[in-house]
Amino acid sequence: MKTSFRLVSIIICALAVLCSCSELFPGHPVTPIDNPPLRNVPDVDVPLYTLHLEDGKVVADVDYVVNIDMGDRDEFRILNFADVQLEAEDVASQNHEYQFMFRTTENLVSLAKPNMITLTGDQTGDGDPGALNAICTQMDSFGVPWAPVYGNHDDSYYGSGVPISQQSEIYRSYENCIYRDGPAGLNRILENGSDSIGNYVVNLVAVDGDEFHVIRTFIFMNSGSREDYSDPLYEDQRWYGDDSSDACLNRNQIEWYKQMVRSASQYSVDDVVPSGVIMHIPTFGYVYAASAAFSIPVDIYDWKAWNVYAYTQSYYGSFSSMHWRKGYTDSYGVMHEFMGCPPYEEGMFKAMKEVGTDFIMVGHDHTNSFNIKYDGINFVYAMKTGRGSYTMPLTIGGTIITVAKDGSVSFTNLLDFSDAAYYPF
Ligand SMILES: [Fe+2]
Repeated sequence: MKTSFRLVSIIICALAVLCSCSELFPGHPVTPIDNPPLRNVPDVDVPLYTLHLEDGKVVADVDYVVNIDMGDRDEFRILNFADVQLEAEDVASQNHEYQFMFRTTENLVSLAKPNMITLTGDQTGDGDPGALNAICTQMDSFGVPWAPVYGNHDDSYYGSGVPISQQSEIYRSYENCIYRDGPAGLNRILENGSDSIGNYVVNLVAVDGDEFHVIRTFIFMNSGSREDYSDPLYEDQRWYGDDSSDACLNRNQIEWYKQMVRSASQYSVDDVVPSGVIMHIPTFGYVYAASAAFSIPVDIYDWKAWNVYAYTQSYYGSFSSMHWRKGYTDSYGVMHEFMGCPPYEEGMFKAMKEVGTDFIMVGHDHTNSFNIKYDGINFVYAMKTGRGSYTMPLTIGGTIITVAKDGSVSFTNLLDFSDAAYYPF
């Protein structure tokens, strides 16, 4: 049977988990910091938010906290799409990338049957409003709440699109989109100094008569676009000396994030509410996690050597067991390119440890797709969705986060084989 609409999808639970290799390059010492500098913005004092019941629904006293009732479900499934990266040109020509976006998201939704959809940024490649509206229309048609964060390519710096302030209006015009701008002044965009919006919270809650509790809180953050690391502020913090200009979280965002988890914890059955972070650009913690988990014959801090190795030695398929250090039996996935994280430790690792966050999920690097469980935190690279920009077979699809009633989470990669150009069988 051969049809371009054919879908053969499989669930990959553990691609590479066993390790028997020698420790050729032991990981560098991990020295997370907790006092990152604050660039270009004044400190913002973030108060705790509060929740209350209104007509049987949980309501927050700030507009950027959205509460979703788990109801009588046994589990809550979230399907994530990453780096769709549709551009004006794709919409104008209705080319393969354009058509594939509709087909693959539809297929993945029909398979996953999600209760919520998230998008980890780079919905567009250029901030084009036509491309964004096409994606929003598709997301809204699925009839479940959907929650996006901005990626660096959503910044109109990369094309002829509109600023994210206008993209915000587009998102908020769609009925099922639960995107919020969030508080002002947390961060600023490099080019024009305007506020970097799109930091908000989604709580999964349980309501029982006059009582309620937060099962899990999700913190959505705008990881920004680009940053000027030639600023003297970063002088002692640069670590691998490449020319990366991917933005990093700002101290204000990190303080805000910690307060958001503390706020939800007021309504948790335990002292600390389970929490997860959803954003676009990987944090520096991904370097700690990968450096600890992978045993590769190059220094993982040497990003150029790493890229050569990744592309030539493991192009098709996952890393074999020889690439994993011992003990990572609950981790899996592939890393085909170096992490596009900022060349700077932004302080998020310590913050996540401090408030007990157990996962972070990002996109950005299209051919990386893994979950490394490191120091109690799941460092998740979401599956890249669609054919926009660069891709690689076996890394295209969606990522499912399944939340149990007790707030615990598990992750599943959903591969999409429906693109006949990649998988002509
Ligand atoms: Fe990106």
